[in-house]
Amino acid sequence: MAVTIDGKQIAEDVVSKVKLSAAELIEATGVTPGIAVVIVGEDPASQVYVANKGRKARECGFHSVQHTLPEQTGEEELVKLVETLNADPAIHGILVQLPLPKHIDSGRIIQTISPDKDVDGFHFINVGKLGTGELETAFVPCTPEGSMLLIDRILGRDLSGLNAVVVGRSNIVGKPMFNLLLAHNATVTIAHSKTKDLPGLCRNADILVAAVGRPQMIKADWVKPGATVIDVGINRIPAPERGEGKTRLVGDVDFADVASVAGALTPVPGGVGPMTIAMLMANTLVAAHRSVGKTPPRF
Ligand code: GUN
Repeated sequence: MAVTIDGKQIAEDVVSKVKLSAAELIEATGVTPGIAVVIVGEDPASQVYVANKGRKARECGFHSVQHTLPEQTGEEELVKLVETLNADPAIHGILVQLPLPKHIDSGRIIQTISPDKDVDGFHFINVGKLGTGELETAFVPCTPEGSMLLIDRILGRDLSGLNAVVVGRSNIVGKPMFNLLLAHNATVTIAHSKTKDLPGLCRNADILVAAVGRPQMIKADWVKPGATVIDVGINRIPAPERGEGKTRLVGDVDFADVASVAGALTPVPGGVGPMTIAMLMANTLVAAHRSVGKTPPRF
């Protein structure tokens, strides 16, 4: 039976470290880490995510502001808000919640965020730094960064000689995950919907990261015995067994099936999810340290 990787506990460890370090920074410099979260429109899932981010930031002792803008907000207005936040010395991290309404060019908004405050790690400067191994000064997207920390807890920092397969090639998860694993010396393959014999490829993986958004796609016979499996998927599926109209969350991995083969496996919920928000706090703390020329802690 696989070890269940307790993302909730590991995220709490990260948040405790952030809290301590934030208190030390405030004591030493008078600078309080500040985060601004911007949300445009009424998407209920986004509203929950944003509220959680604000709550966690306050728990960490941060200065936290939320800008809630109506659905019909114009692109120029949003650009102006981001520019104002770029210039605000009390704000060290800026997060514009995605997706944005269709009439706004998300790419333009992301590239307007100062790379020094881009705690999502989506700006081209940070993407380029990660791609070239400049990890000391980059911001790395929170979900792959958190997934990497879970892998680190199971296998250590040096993944020399291990085969990693990342299923999914998104800019937010798949590609940065590829770069992180490579930076830790793994031999990495990215698989996607056009890959031939996906189960066969996955069976070769000592580390398997699933980020495709297909509920319970990865089955036991896709997994190498003893592999470390990281499930980034969050899918809501019908759960009639819980009552009419009820739903539940599942990952991209069939947990019960894969648990009989894997060495270690993240659950959904309670695996990668809590790590994402913890790493956002860590990135904001790092941004605040860099703003005053102090060496940030490592996570
Ligand atoms: N929407 C869903 N996940 C994310 C994320 O990590 N960052 C931002 N900005 N928006 C999101």
